[in-house]
Amino acid sequence: MSAKVDVLLGAQWGDEGKGKVVDVIAPEYDVIARFQGGPNAGHTLIFEGFKHVLHTIPSGVFREGTVNLVGNGVVIDPIIFLKEVKALEKIGVDVRRNLLISRRAHLILPTHRALDAASEAEKGKAKIGSTLKGIGPTYMDKTGRNGLRVGDLERSDLMDRFNALQRKHDRLLAMHDHQSDLREATQEWLDAAQQLRAMSLVDSEHYLDEALRAGKRVLAEGAQGTLLDIDFGTYPFVTSSNTISAGACTGLGVAPNRLGRVVGIFKAYSTRVGSGPFPTELHDEVGEHIRTAGHEFGSTTGRPRRCGWLDLPALHYAVMINGITELAMMKSDVLNHMGTVRICTAYKVDGRVTERLPYDITGNLEPVYEDMPGWGDLDVNNALPDSLQNYIARIEAAVGVPIKLVSLGPDRAETVHREAALVP
Ligand code: GDP
Ligand code: IMO
Ligand code: MG
Repeated sequence: MSAKVDVLLGAQWGDEGKGKVVDVIAPEYDVIARFQGGPNAGHTLIFEGFKHVLHTIPSGVFREGTVNLVGNGVVIDPIIFLKEVKALEKIGVDVRRNLLISRRAHLILPTHRALDAASEAEKGKAKIGSTLKGIGPTYMDKTGRNGLRVGDLERSDLMDRFNALQRKHDRLLAMHDHQSDLREATQEWLDAAQQLRAMSLVDSEHYLDEALRAGKRVLAEGAQGTLLDIDFGTYPFVTSSNTISAGACTGLGVAPNRLGRVVGIFKAYSTRVGSGPFPTELHDEVGEHIRTAGHEFGSTTGRPRRCGWLDLPALHYAVMINGITELAMMKSDVLNHMGTVRICTAYKVDGRVTERLPYDITGNLEPVYEDMPGWGDLDVNNALPDSLQNYIARIEAAVGVPIKLVSLGPDRAETVHREAALVP
């Protein structure tokens, strides 16, 4: 019998701490595979006093012997990708040896980035707050059947395809009245694309099929988060891919019956970067405190993240839509010494209380809060304080899955594995 693919993904609006957990559990796996998103992601890993932020490369890259696969569902900007590879090589990581890239992954062109900027500029105040990495336009070309793929780099007519796509983009940019001189970027892109071509390109669906048959353990690493999913997120303030567990099937080429555990990563509170609804957002000094204590500034763009209390209806929705089997709670330490912590247990919509995340969370929706006693300092060498245990039990009771990992700090070592007792 072949092995299963476990999935690890964000259960909120991204930046939950996925990179840290992948790095912590990577030794349990032979292959770590990214299945969607692209350089809009920023996954932070901290160990032995060093901090690393990964954008396209999977977070297993620092673990000896782990294969890192960039799946077909990912969109790759060769310039950013090469910079990432070189930065890793500079610190002595032999990244190319264990890095595989799907031929079916789509490529982000400089003109995709320009189109992203033009689209956001045109939206004005209604902008998505995109990371401007060209993600939306690249996925649009994928579904519009115009895209350029990694496998095209091996074709003799690559330049014809590249020029045709760029011409299409130039026409669109002219319609947007968007001026940009991309000649330099184009040359840099073509040079980087040639180096990408020289790396290990694979048909990832076959690679994974063989790996699973051989009993290899595979972890699919999600980017962004459930509430940024193109179908189930807070549309239109979302990213352009399926960030949910189903995305691991299409983004890697593994059948649904081959998925195993689904690990949902969430923060002990909520954050969001970019525009869009956020029911539990705090606009006061408490929100400011969380932002400062949690260093809540984007790993990719440096933008301040919006902060608020934990939202249980939203977390429960993430558990449902992803089939989450276990949770990891991150950044518990950020709420240290708060006295009281609040947790949103339901919403009041038009005077009616509901625990269900509704279709529209922009309008007449008011969070219903429960106050719980906070906790003092946390230490991985001591038992978790009762008040934090109660907070954990409250969440488990609401969403029906165990919290098996609790993170008490950004470092790899600041992690507690719980023998979680599931409260139904
Ligand atoms: P990702 O995109 O989900 O991988 O998350 P990011 O790396 O964008 O953001 C998470 C941030 O929180 C990073 O700066 C991490 O170093 C940091 N972090 C992760 N876990 C913890 C934790 O338990 N406590 C604290 N204080 N920081 C953490
Ligand atoms: P990781 O993997 C948090 C947000 C952007 C914007 C929206 C669309 O690090 O958790 P896009 O660039 O995809 O067009 O942006 O999605 N966003 C993220 N927010 N974490 C991320 O990735 C994100 N990737 C995109 O801020 O609101
Ligand atoms: Mg991030």
